[in-house]
Amino acid sequence: MPHPEIALPRLIAHRGLSARAPENTLTAVRAAHEAGCRWVELDVQLLGDGTPVIWHDRDVKRCSNGRGRLATLSLAGAKRLDAGGWFASAFAGEPMATLEEMLALLVERGMGVNLELKVNRGHDPTTLAEVVVPTVLAALPPEQRLLSSFDAQALARSRALAGPEQLALGVLFKRIPDDWAERCRAVAAYSVHADWRYLRETRARSMKAAGVAMLCYTVNDIEVFERLGRWGIDGVFSDDPGRLVDQGA
Ligand code: G3P
Ligand code: MG
Repeated sequence: MPHPEIALPRLIAHRGLSARAPENTLTAVRAAHEAGCRWVELDVQLLGDGTPVIWHDRDVKRCSNGRGRLATLSLAGAKRLDAGGWFASAFAGEPMATLEEMLALLVERGMGVNLELKVNRGHDPTTLAEVVVPTVLAALPPEQRLLSSFDAQALARSRALAGPEQLALGVLFKRIPDDWAERCRAVAAYSVHADWRYLRETRARSMKAAGVAMLCYTVNDIEVFERLGRWGIDGVFSDDPGRLVDQGA
């Protein structure tokens, strides 16, 4: 299967450098870059007015000074929120980032991104893919982009919009299901992204043998990182890659 020539690093900053800056913000991505990360993982979803933004949760309570569901916000309303002060007062006033603003930063810094199409309850996976895929294709070269999702419909629509040589797709799983190979084939997947806590060595090795790249989330422990490396895992998402490097990664 022809895929873009992606040089994935072994450590990818999860939601930006989320251990040291408010997750999924421009500041978290700048911090990741300054810590030496070449790739970040970020979540994308749509506001009520259809604007794609970098955000993880279904609502804004945990990561801002506001309340309510993302799907009820307009861009103007979202921009009034403080998406940094919840993390630490030094980050107060950090705005929610749009996909467009984030892509501009990634281009400026020459960074790669694993953009997770986050389909929260009540959201439409097809529309999300239709908004995000063309925007990402227009902004970043093929070897700097990897889209992923837990949602099979979002992945299928993404694949219909861009072939495997144009766009690498990752299938996200918590526990790897028995039909993983079929689900990867259905979208000509480049990679599988799995929760390391449920992954077993035999399964990891059979997936690698089948030719899919394997990534694990969320790894903040050097022993786990080293064990996964011995199993042939290509890379991990970490909230604090620099800490793993300091410990010998
Ligand atoms: O994409 C890997 C990981 O981010 C998936 O889980 O909840 O952190 O988006 P979550
Ligand atoms: Mg994510």
